[in-house]
Amino acid sequence: MTTLESLPAPSADTAAAIHDAVRERYAEAAVAAAAATSPEEAAAGSEALASCCGPDGCSDERSSPVFGAELYAATDRAALPNAAVLASLGCGNPTAVAELREGETVLDLGSGGGIDVLLSARRVGPTGRAIGLDMTDEMLALARRNAAEAGATNVEFVKGTITDRPLVASLFDKYEPAGVFHLAAESHVDRSIVSADDFVQTNVVGTYSMLESARTYLNSLIGERKDRFRFLHLSTDEVFGSLGEAGYFSEQTPYAPNSPYSASKAASDHFVRAYQHTYGLPAIIINCSNNYGPYQFPEKVIPLMILNALSGKPLPVYGDGSNVRDWIYVEDHCRAIRLVFERGASRETYVVGGGNERRNIDLVRRICNILDEIAPMEEVQSLHEQGLKSYSELIHFVEDRPGHDQRYAIDSARIARQLGWQAEVGFDEGLRRTIHWYLSNPDWVDQASSGSYGEWIEKNYAWRIRKEGS
Ligand SMILES: NC(=O)c1ccc[n+]([C@@H]2O[C@H](COP(=O)([O-])OP(=O)(O)OC[C@H]3O[C@@H](n4cnc5c(N)ncnc54)[C@H](O)[C@@H]3O)[C@@H](O)[C@H]2O)c1
Repeated sequence: MTTLESLPAPSADTAAAIHDAVRERYAEAAVAAAAATSPEEAAAGSEALASCCGPDGCSDERSSPVFGAELYAATDRAALPNAAVLASLGCGNPTAVAELREGETVLDLGSGGGIDVLLSARRVGPTGRAIGLDMTDEMLALARRNAAEAGATNVEFVKGTITDRPLVASLFDKYEPAGVFHLAAESHVDRSIVSADDFVQTNVVGTYSMLESARTYLNSLIGERKDRFRFLHLSTDEVFGSLGEAGYFSEQTPYAPNSPYSASKAASDHFVRAYQHTYGLPAIIINCSNNYGPYQFPEKVIPLMILNALSGKPLPVYGDGSNVRDWIYVEDHCRAIRLVFERGASRETYVVGGGNERRNIDLVRRICNILDEIAPMEEVQSLHEQGLKSYSELIHFVEDRPGHDQRYAIDSARIARQLGWQAEVGFDEGLRRTIHWYLSNPDWVDQASSGSYGEWIEKNYAWRIRKEGS
């Protein structure tokens, strides 16, 4: 069989023409047709291409035998570029052009966040370096603490906001990063309902500002450094709106954000997509489902329930508790992030989910059951004195979140197929690990719960609980 490597290298003009034709939409199918030695082989190759790269996502057309055969017939085979040229054009085989190398630096935005603290030290391995940028003192303090505890000497932290263009430019100049992990965000739906100002500022304006800075930096690079640069944008499945009882979100699902938070993330995704398309920025988007695990800020639902339960406070469940979320253990998500950064097809989108759909009420009941087992109430004096027998007695149904999405669920087939990723931590196992972590790290919890956290919890939940009780 003819291999791409054995085909003659194209002239610059031909390469540019092929680049234009295939880069954005038909890269993988073009490679398959190029490597085929007959229309039948091209047809079979195309059919096998259930996955394709390109900002438009997967297309049925590309995976049809007719498309493969037609592409084979239409292709000027003498002018086909070899694999190296295709790779340097940012298309073709999605295997790693961006695997992090010894000594390489990445910019880590939002490095104090629940997902990032786990990732920053690990994503660069023992020899690389992460420069973590975060604007919140408390989050930075927690991130520094976590890095010190993990013995991570290859992570440095900088205080600042992603909207500060001169600061961001100076980081690009100084560290010449091989890529950017953009996790900086306002991320809590309830806060966005109270006021969306910060969400628009960070998620929309901040992402736009980062894209501009990355574009300027990319333009200053040449050769391999330019080819290898990646911008990974982390987003949420909430941009797709709400599902009914059946169906899943995939890379083809149209956007339909329902909360101010998801609207701001959708806007940021659209900017990323526009920069992929207009400027060829090698950005990749991940839309992930609900994360849980250690280091999550206590306002998120799982730590909130664990910590409220342990202090004998009400466990506020919105509405009738029937809303469904697809939970992913944070380390599974972190593996996906690194894999996508290193091996994902440039300008691609991946949806990622844990495959663990749970109704909110079932989630809270399960947390209570595990706590009953590992921290029985009779052994906790303050709770025992309240005369309670099970944590589930603390459950309170409270006034629902306005516009509460009913169900989220993810079809992770593309990342499984293209990159071999799958969630490894089962839901019960992950929940137990999480509960153990919060039980074992009261200092971290105290530090995270200091400052304005208490005021926020009072503002969002206390009136609801008082209302239901009255
Ligand atoms: N947690 C989830 O369940 C989940 C699910 C899917 C996607 N995501 C996405 O993953 C990313 C990280 O989520 P997380 O749960 O770790 O969030 P988080 O709120 O715990 O962390 C976000 C971090 O960004 C920082 N930040 C906010 N505005 C900033 C700014 N202007 N400049 C610099 N830093 C700023 C915050 O201080 C915080 O440390 C977000 O983009 C979020 O939308 C989260």
